[in-house]
Amino acid sequence: MQEKLAEIRAQALDSAKQAATVQELTNAKVRFLGKKGELTQLLRSMGQLPPEERPVFGKLVNEVRDELEEAWAERERELFRLEEERRLAGEALDWTLPGRKPLRGTLHPITQVINEAKAIFTGMGYEVVEGPEVEWDYYNFEALNIPPDHPARDMQDTFFFSEQLLLRSQTSSVQIRTMEHRKPPVRIIAPGKVYRADADVTHSPMFHQIEGLVVDEGITFADLKGTLQLFIERMFGPEAKARFRPSYFPFTEPSAEVDISCIICGGTGCRVCKDTGWLEILGCGMVDPRVLKIVNYDPDVVSGFAFGMGVERIAMLRYGINDIRLLFENDVRFLKQFAR
Ligand code: DAH
Repeated sequence: MQEKLAEIRAQALDSAKQAATVQELTNAKVRFLGKKGELTQLLRSMGQLPPEERPVFGKLVNEVRDELEEAWAERERELFRLEEERRLAGEALDWTLPGRKPLRGTLHPITQVINEAKAIFTGMGYEVVEGPEVEWDYYNFEALNIPPDHPARDMQDTFFFSEQLLLRSQTSSVQIRTMEHRKPPVRIIAPGKVYRADADVTHSPMFHQIEGLVVDEGITFADLKGTLQLFIERMFGPEAKARFRPSYFPFTEPSAEVDISCIICGGTGCRVCKDTGWLEILGCGMVDPRVLKIVNYDPDVVSGFAFGMGVERIAMLRYGINDIRLLFENDVRFLKQFAR
């Protein structure tokens, strides 16, 4: 048995030395030192020896095992070093290659339009506020003078979570939230996402609006006109003309829609403006006294105006984008055209 041990020892040391890769080394280790390895089996067959010889032999086997373990560890370190050397040798570096430029992100055109609108309105003394996208029916409709059975609800195909809870269909909800906890004067814009069950080349189920609200003593329609005219000039350039058309919204009286002279044809008529020379960009009006009463403002003392515009529409007009879906596909080739 001692001979057998010497034989295993010699073979094991040899195979450790012969192993050319870490994998081969591991295989050899399993063969000799593993649970079913040769050395382990030898140890198990010790029962054949007379009892008095067993401790001596056991000690011997353990010594050999220690020796082999050490031999393996050393060979392993050596192999790791060799493999590292080989890897580095194969890794020739060409220092003359030009570096790779990381892809640089740009602001999304929607973000750019919102940022510009913010700059224009804060320049006029407005404050930027926000409201929740998951909204109560009360703020989205009820307090805006749109009761449950009001036909104006049909204009906005709303996503409801329950009878009372919905995805806001308009940023006008922020008007109520703002007035609810402030006293006049109020001068805010509220940009944000809104949702409607609607999808085609000019409608997306999620889109952005910018709401505006001013309430103070002595606010008139002339203030509204002047404000929006200035905004349009700043946003679309000094050539852009504005036109106010009578319209209807439940929360404003009187109400209007505002068109700008077509920025594609300059007003002579083209496909984009459907030969009218005008493009609709927002709704507005004088805050309805009923809305003021709902938030406990006194309509005999204060008056106000409000407006709401679609950001995608403005971006599409400004950049000549003909399909709203392009804005949400996140195709870098499309988006990088708007890099500033
Ligand atoms: N909320 C309206 C819509 O989504 C837009 C609007 C019209 C907002 C008139 C206003 C307003 O503040 O006064 O269609």
